[in-house]
Amino acid sequence: MGNSFTDQMSQDLSLIEEYLRDAFASEARYAHLQEAMEYSLLAGGKRIRPVLTLETCRLCGGDAESALPFACAVEMVHTYSLIHDDLPAMDNDQMRRGRPTNHVVYGEAAAILAGDALLTAAFEHLTRADLPAPRVVQAVACLSRAAGSAGMVGGQALDMAGESRTREELESLQSLKTGALISAAAELGCIAADGTSEQRGQVRSYAQALGRAFQVRDDMLDVTSSEEELGKPVGSDRANGKNTFVTSLGLEGCAALVERLTREGIEAISAFEHPDFHIKLAQSMARRTK
Ligand code: IPE
Ligand code: IPE
Ligand code: MG
Ligand code: MG
Ligand code: MG
Repeated sequence: MGNSFTDQMSQDLSLIEEYLRDAFASEARYAHLQEAMEYSLLAGGKRIRPVLTLETCRLCGGDAESALPFACAVEMVHTYSLIHDDLPAMDNDQMRRGRPTNHVVYGEAAAILAGDALLTAAFEHLTRADLPAPRVVQAVACLSRAAGSAGMVGGQALDMAGESRTREELESLQSLKTGALISAAAELGCIAADGTSEQRGQVRSYAQALGRAFQVRDDMLDVTSSEEELGKPVGSDRANGKNTFVTSLGLEGCAALVERLTREGIEAISAFEHPDFHIKLAQSMARRTK
């Protein structure tokens, strides 16, 4: 990998944006459904999950582009989760990715349907990968588990239950609601490359640590950042009476935890021959301001 981190990142981002832009372009348009799906899907976002898929495929010796449908499938699941997370029945937020939230523009029913359709489309796109069928089956198993009741949705359910929690309970909630999908993003890259189970384990340890750090940082930014910078409201957790790492550890404790988790992640990935991109990604996510 002769390229610098930023070159590699922008190459990945243009592949991802192009794929997502075309994903629904040739579909028949029903009412405002496809428009609402694309409104959120093409509104930017950091694309950390699909980048992780492409780069983990490369890390495990595969051709990154072969993992593009897997990568974009994860981004579709993630975008659906954001649309539903913002609904009045959940976090009731009005801004996302620098735009009014989906339900604010299209109404609640349309936003629910746009989310449903993105979730479903993700699995169709997994099957579009030009990879041997056993890898596609493994990808379906991996993403469905991470997205569902044993993963992201399970975490969201705990988050909505809103009980006060011990540190350990908060950690497992956040591992589910955020860590599971970030881990799946990385594991899908390993699956696309037909990586060994040892590689899959190392990739998972890295991504789980990264995912946990990512959510702690998200909780911090909800307190320290601004809506202009984040593209979503600040103070949402407090307004919803959420139990977060900030309420449990304070900002300094959070910063120390992010550092520790980032170190753990870097350690887990260092067994690979070319871990440079993953190391820089973890470091930049730990310092991110949006
Ligand atoms: C926001 O995810 C929700 C969390 C799981 C913390 P991101 O911070 O990745 O949001 P986008 O994709 O950049 O908008
Ligand atoms: C939601 O966590 C994570 C999801 C699974 C969507 P948050 O509710 O903290 O995410 P933001 O801050 O609204 O992006
Ligand atoms: Mg939420
Ligand atoms: Mg939210
Ligand atoms: Mg948040």
